[in-house]
Amino acid sequence: MINAGNTSDVPNFGKKVVSLGGREILLVHIKETFYAVENECPHQGCPMTAAVVKEGTISCPRHGYRFSLVDGTCREHPESVLTVFPVVLEGETILVDLPE
Ligand code: FES
Repeated sequence: MINAGNTSDVPNFGKKVVSLGGREILLVHIKETFYAVENECPHQGCPMTAAVVKEGTISCPRHGYRFSLVDGTCREHPESVLTVFPVVLEGETILVDLPE
């Protein structure tokens, strides 16, 4: 698990990009839950920084593919799966589980 920062770094219903282990990770905060996804759309590589988060999904700003924040799947385009990473909160510290 890698320290991705403090919970107060990511406003509620907001996002923040962090560099972890050589990757750009987008942290998303919705109510009490934090998510971590690759900051790159699996469709054509658009950064997800300007994505819209709604009802448990994150929508790519380029073509609007909607990915589950839980498992990265896209119902409309199942061939595209956004990489999501497990997140654990330790007090106010956001820990992200990145693969080796
Ligand atoms: S680049 Fe993200 S949906 Fe096309």
